[in-house]
Amino acid sequence: MNSYVILISGRGSNMQALLEARLPGQCVAVISNRPEAAGLAWAASRGVPTRVVDHRQYPSREAFDTALAEAIERVGGELVLLAGFMRILTPDFVAHFAGRLINIHPSLLPAFPGLHTHEAALAAGVRVHGCTVHFVTPALDCGPIIIQAAVPVLAGDTPDALAARVLRQEHIIYPQAARAVLEGRCRLVDGRVVWDDDATSADLALRVPA
Ligand code: GAR
Repeated sequence: MNSYVILISGRGSNMQALLEARLPGQCVAVISNRPEAAGLAWAASRGVPTRVVDHRQYPSREAFDTALAEAIERVGGELVLLAGFMRILTPDFVAHFAGRLINIHPSLLPAFPGLHTHEAALAAGVRVHGCTVHFVTPALDCGPIIIQAAVPVLAGDTPDALAARVLRQEHIIYPQAARAVLEGRCRLVDGRVVWDDDATSADLALRVPA
């Protein structure tokens, strides 16, 4: 794949990590469902085209997803990278972009899907938490996993402290996963993630920071 779009809803720190990683292929646009998303200004300041498809302007989830898919096709994005994009996507949208739609989620899936993952991890008392890059399938936060990174949960952690520790790893593994998919070294085949090279896959599949 030679081009990608990044979809954001807010701050855009993962978007920033992706753009700073100098991935192979061109970022043809950053698209947000929220005009006020802070990440839009940062992308524009780096010369990346930005678009807004405001979900509040559409009568239904289906209508919004149709407009979003059209915006992606119009800019010519092959790979679609969800980077803090806080919308549930319809099965039709997900099917249309099957195998070229990736998300980052702030937990070690399948633990803690959905929102408030750091609060949930602390409430559950897990000793290890982390983040996951995965292909998107219709079921929320359930798609085949590309890379995960683990971090320790420390005594006295607050949700914010844990989120910051996880976010540092998000910024490392998302560019790694996006690069592998853009280079065709990693793909979705019959609902499973297939790597060209088992050694690279083993190196990248789980990141445990020192
Ligand atoms: C990130 O932690 C990302 O993993 C999470 O939102 C944050 C966005 O931050 N995404 C989800 O929760 C998706 N369900 P960012 O805008 O600075 O990248």
